[in-house]
Amino acid sequence: MVWKIQLLLFLAATANTTAEGRHDYPPQLMHTVNSLNKLLDYMLEPRSVIGDMIFGVVLARGQLAVLRRHLAQRQDVKMEPEDLSAISILENKCEEIYRKYMPIRLRAIKENYDIIVDNVVREELWDVDYPLTFGKLRKVPRRSLIKRGPHGEPQKLTSKQRLALLLSGRPNETESDSCISLLIHPQLCGTSPSCWNIMANKDEEIHGYSLTHRLLYLQIARQLGCGGRVEFADSEAAIRSLCSDILVELKRIVELQVPAGFWDLFLEEVSLCGMEGFAEFLNPLFIDWILPLQTPAGCFADRVQDGWLDAPIEPPALSIRRKREDGDLGDGCTMHITGMAAIFLALNIRATIEIWNPDVPLPSLYREQD
Ligand SMILES: *[C@@H]1O[C@H](CO)[C@@H](O)[C@H](O)[C@H]1NC(C)=O
Repeated sequence: MVWKIQLLLFLAATANTTAEGRHDYPPQLMHTVNSLNKLLDYMLEPRSVIGDMIFGVVLARGQLAVLRRHLAQRQDVKMEPEDLSAISILENKCEEIYRKYMPIRLRAIKENYDIIVDNVVREELWDVDYPLTFGKLRKVPRRSLIKRGPHGEPQKLTSKQRLALLLSGRPNETESDSCISLLIHPQLCGTSPSCWNIMANKDEEIHGYSLTHRLLYLQIARQLGCGGRVEFADSEAAIRSLCSDILVELKRIVELQVPAGFWDLFLEEVSLCGMEGFAEFLNPLFIDWILPLQTPAGCFADRVQDGWLDAPIEPPALSIRRKREDGDLGDGCTMHITGMAAIFLALNIRATIEIWNPDVPLPSLYREQD
């Protein structure tokens, strides 16, 4: 029941209006800030980490820096430096994690993954600053995108259907890594006919990680400064088109009530397209869904506490493939989902302050203990 209301609100919110007005933003913002703080403290504890997790933190730092700059430039309110301290504290923790863990991260078995991490996971590359606005994407179909049972309940997915939704189409992970590493080595902004054939192919149906990895490929190319190359000249339009497709995918996943195994993809879709400024991907309800995925230790897990989601939770082993060296952190946490949670939270802190409720006071980080 609760879920149904949330779904309705979501559909209302994606119908090209701003998020619904009665949301109680100040406490939610405080929880989001505290959650990110706790996550970063968790990451600061010494442990072996892989590049994926640091990438999430680097993206998060970028969004916090963008927010801090925007707030400092605001004419309507005079920001004192101490007003920005919560943002600065989070930003500093991100930088500390980056400085501390990049040099000692686990090296991958595959060489091209290391090439990617060394060259792409760089703080100075990811100050991605686009205004958060609605209306640049194609409209999402209003009709339901999934099969429903006799009482309108969403169908349960078989594991084959899950797999198809998570990763059908190209690129697969190997192809994705190899095409991204070609952007760096042997020469900057390199590509190949087969990579281009995969990444720019508009004729095949793709889902899940294949979609987000095409987006990520173009985002990385742009951030590396490849826009001048003829292949990448039209990247902005291609990014908009991919995010339009990803928005449809997101609606489908939400209609399915974000099944077990899909939270990682959910975070990736919201974060990568939200960071492009497509406000359709940002929704205060999503924050309410994500916060309970944080374990008491501070990392994020693809399972739900408190039973607010009715869908049966299957053991994480599932038959779904685990992402590369997924970096199991215990408690059901993985490094990939934990890194994605960092950028998700930072981006949504920005959205709360910049689009949903510009008047919401910035929480001080330690208010809960006052
Ligand atoms: C990815 O696709 C290629 C074909 O393009 C295939 O040879 C390879 O086995 C696939 N890798 C995985 C991990 O599925």
